[in-house]
Amino acid sequence: MAEGDVVGTGVAGATGRTLACYHHARGECRSCTWLPRPYDAQLSEKERAARALLAPWPGIAWEATVPGGLGGFRNKAKLAVGGTVDAPTLGILDPGGEGVDLRDCALHDPRLVAAADPLAELVARARVVPYDVVRRRGELKHLLVTVAPDGGMLVRFVLRSEEAVSRLRKHLPWLLERLPAARVVSVNLQPDPKAVLEGPREIVLTAEESLRVRVNDLDLHLLPQSFFQTNTAVAAALYRQVAAWVDEVDPASVWDLYSGVGGFALHVAAPDRSVVGVEVSAAAVESARRSAADHGLAADFVAADATGWVADRVAAAEPVADVVVVNPPRRGVGPRLAALLEASEAGHVVYSSCNAETLARDLRAMPSLRPVRGRLLDMFPHTAHYEVVVLLERAARPR
Ligand SMILES: C[S@@+](CC[C@H](N)C(=O)[O-])C[C@H]1O[C@@H](n2cnc3c(N)ncnc32)[C@H](O)[C@@H]1O
Repeated sequence: MAEGDVVGTGVAGATGRTLACYHHARGECRSCTWLPRPYDAQLSEKERAARALLAPWPGIAWEATVPGGLGGFRNKAKLAVGGTVDAPTLGILDPGGEGVDLRDCALHDPRLVAAADPLAELVARARVVPYDVVRRRGELKHLLVTVAPDGGMLVRFVLRSEEAVSRLRKHLPWLLERLPAARVVSVNLQPDPKAVLEGPREIVLTAEESLRVRVNDLDLHLLPQSFFQTNTAVAAALYRQVAAWVDEVDPASVWDLYSGVGGFALHVAAPDRSVVGVEVSAAAVESARRSAADHGLAADFVAADATGWVADRVAAAEPVADVVVVNPPRRGVGPRLAALLEASEAGHVVYSSCNAETLARDLRAMPSLRPVRGRLLDMFPHTAHYEVVVLLERAARPR
């Protein structure tokens, strides 16, 4: 556990203090580049940076920033596995490919920290040899563990091949006894030596195949291989904010592009409102469909490339939704989708971005859509990254 005066609680709201981490102090891990800065100074600097990037659009009404918590806020542990089968390391690999054990990372929800020992013990029991990136030998590359607010967990073993799958199956009852919170356990096959975290094939070992994650008053299904925001409390605040803006506009139709497991779409679904989510990951689309069915919400989800899907609707002269929500990866929506939205009749766009630089670039490509409201949400404390969401309103097109 982190040494020093402060260990975070994961409760959004902590500011003004510094998170002490002995891994950082020893130089074992430098992922949290802003760790030495007091948390309130981090928030001020992020606000300054976001406002500077959006300065070309004056008059944005900013809501109060949502802090992400000092520690314990990450709902997902991405643990590279190194070491030996009897003494695996769970954390990162150093530049020479040696494992560095960070299983007590202070950013992780404490329940993830507590799960690490039983998982390491399972590795030894089932003789799942950690993958050696230098010699290209061994099986276990990563352990990916997600925890829901109720404590339920999704545990994924990223393996080079199927060699260890039967042994993991054999020892699964032991794991479920030691770690009863593990509701879903799966294997992801990543045969390539390249640095991609996971591969296309997933083998679910448990009867349950999706983790339910409570967000506000919704249970979101999370199948393995679907993206989920890493900070559940901040994600909940983000969805509440966007639902409030959308409700103010009260549109008859909403598109949620890059919809993931459907967080935005399901929060804005309402009687007499058509809602469609578009997402490239089939697993995420299936997750969103299950959540919509469970809650009886009228929201459809389509597995497609967001830009291609919008281009097809426009080409078929189908109407674009009144409100379009976009939440792309760091690269932003890009010039083609920006041009389609600019030329469309959508009265409002909600753009939620984890990269304010690509957000600003995309806004320049949509001069008719002016940001009028904004909010910074600190999804990634102790790093330079943050989420920023803006409500865009259509102004008269420039002549
Ligand atoms: C930042 S995440 C947002 C997910 C979701 N909105 C949420 O709140 O959890 C970006 C999502 O875009 C998806 N994605 C990436 N490229 C895409 C594309 N070309 N078309 C549609 N979805 C894409 C990813 O699979 C991921 O789920």
